[in-house]
Amino acid sequence: MISAKRNAHCGKLTAEQAGQSVVLCGWVSKRRDHGGLIFVDLRDRSGIVQVVADPDTTAKDFKVAEDIRNEYVIKVSGKIRLRDEATVNPNIPTGKIEVVADAIEVLNAAKTPPFYIQDGIDTDENLRLKYRYLDLRRPEMQKNLILRHKVTKLMRDYFDSRGFIEVETPMLCKSTPEGARDYLVPSRVNPGKFFALPQSPQIFKQILMVAGMERYFQIARCFRDEDLRADRQPEFTQLDIEMSFVEVDDILDMMEGLMQHIFKGALDRDIKAPFLRMTWDDAMNTYGSDKPDMRFEMPLFDLSETVKGSDFKVFNSILESCGVVKGITVKGDAGIARRELDGLVEFVGIYGAKGLAWIQVQGDGSIKSPIAKFFSEEQMAKIVAAAKAEANDLILMVADKWATTVQALGALRIEMAKRMNLIDPDKLAFLWVIDFPMFEYSEEDKRWVAMHHPFTMPREEDLDKLMTDPGKVYAKAYDMVLNGTEIGGGSIRIHRRDIQKKVFQAIGLSDEEAETKFGFMMGAFEYGAPPHGGLAFGLDRLIMIMAKRSSIRDVIAFPKTKDASCLMTGAPDLVVEKQMRELHIKTVGLKK
Ligand code: AMO
Ligand code: AMP
Repeated sequence: MISAKRNAHCGKLTAEQAGQSVVLCGWVSKRRDHGGLIFVDLRDRSGIVQVVADPDTTAKDFKVAEDIRNEYVIKVSGKIRLRDEATVNPNIPTGKIEVVADAIEVLNAAKTPPFYIQDGIDTDENLRLKYRYLDLRRPEMQKNLILRHKVTKLMRDYFDSRGFIEVETPMLCKSTPEGARDYLVPSRVNPGKFFALPQSPQIFKQILMVAGMERYFQIARCFRDEDLRADRQPEFTQLDIEMSFVEVDDILDMMEGLMQHIFKGALDRDIKAPFLRMTWDDAMNTYGSDKPDMRFEMPLFDLSETVKGSDFKVFNSILESCGVVKGITVKGDAGIARRELDGLVEFVGIYGAKGLAWIQVQGDGSIKSPIAKFFSEEQMAKIVAAAKAEANDLILMVADKWATTVQALGALRIEMAKRMNLIDPDKLAFLWVIDFPMFEYSEEDKRWVAMHHPFTMPREEDLDKLMTDPGKVYAKAYDMVLNGTEIGGGSIRIHRRDIQKKVFQAIGLSDEEAETKFGFMMGAFEYGAPPHGGLAFGLDRLIMIMAKRSSIRDVIAFPKTKDASCLMTGAPDLVVEKQMRELHIKTVGLKK
């Protein structure tokens, strides 16, 4: 037994402390038996230090050192000493020292873990999720959670010092209109009735503005039952914000300041403000995305006018049916192999494009292209000029409906940038996409739906088009984009009942439906609602980028799998009959 208490942390020990006695606690990261000497890499949250057990100095406990295995929890008392020049390990911060043990105590034994507790393992993620407590023991995962803690602390400080207050809003709610499916919770005391878990605190934060809170924020859990991807979880966290008496610029400025504050505080990175602001129309036309990655250029250009009047029937018929011809130029890629070009045709096919045409501008300036025969030399020169292509460049073109064309080329732009190594992983490219269309047409529902949400204020100049031409109405909505990921989005809100009513009408919500769903909110607006607006950041996505990870699961302590389950606890799970009865629920149509 070591009676003294732990008084130091492994990763914090320094060469200046040589000669001092310390008591450490931690996990055995590695144990090496060097015939006579035993070396233990001891790990705690702060890092790793080498402990040496030697039959002389560790006399009484040498047998303990012989018996310990990886991931045993031990306590060590010993003396810090400088390592010999030859045994210094430059790869760890404590590589110049070691702790010579005079006593070792096993606090708990451990089974052999199913994977190595170290960085950079390529273990199947499902195994990591099942043994999440072991996965989270790995230094890189601990670093992610520590970063997340730091960032939320910085966020709270930033808003606190600017007069915002954090208010908690309910988890048991009525459905919120963020467009995903709800997670429902049956009410025991109200038979047949259900709560919805919040898709966001949207309605409550707006009501808080009516309540005169003026500046609100919350680090809020949100729930959305939607198909999952690397940057989506059924349960995720928003930094949610709302402000009264503001216009778009006030909010954008405040949020740019927030980004500067957290990137400086957590990563010591200086962020330049103001950020680039781009309208949604420009983003779609020039980058083929509403969240363009601005770490590289490669803009889309329009060739619809340039290619008019050629002998190429495909382009002509698409232009006649109101389609467009657009392209991108990949610098220095004219030597691309035919096989790879065929692969690109398949690639744009995923996005619905029916073909891909290419022009290789060869080293001597001559043209190689399967469609060259349809164009005069003069026409071809015009295309090359419009593409700003030079010798050795590759021009890739898609002709289709506008939406398909920009989407396919937008995806191709990213794909080609990856292939050509144009993306600097250290760069931080912030961007605001502004002036989103208010509505988009849902082919599935055969009606207009709100692109952001139906509480978003249309631009004043478009108000008269609400009923007549909803597709032409733009909204006071904005997204913050970082390196091609939408990290936040928001809008100025409607605070007048008459405008809100028209928007509900435009999305085909009858007065009765609007009343049942949002009557309380419309009612609140009649008691002095201030002009207001706000936004919400996807905290997980932001931390993912800050931590340079490619999945938000790596910055969430206990995430769900792609099929929305928790492999560690086994949730969701069946419940006993009695519980179902109490909740007035019966499952039907399930296979036994
Ligand atoms: P929105 O729906 O755009 O806006 O959500 C805000 C941000 O939350 C993140 N996000 C997600 N992150 C992980 N998993 C998900 N399933 C997921 N869904 C969204 C994104 C997104 O930008 N109430 C409005 C905000 C407002 O208008 O103030 C809202 O929720 O990064
Ligand atoms: P075709 O004459 O149909 O063989 O097409 C000649 C070239 O044009 C091929 O390289 C096709 O991939 C390309 N192409 C066909 N349809 C389109 C389209 N919609 N947009 C761009 N290129 C296309």
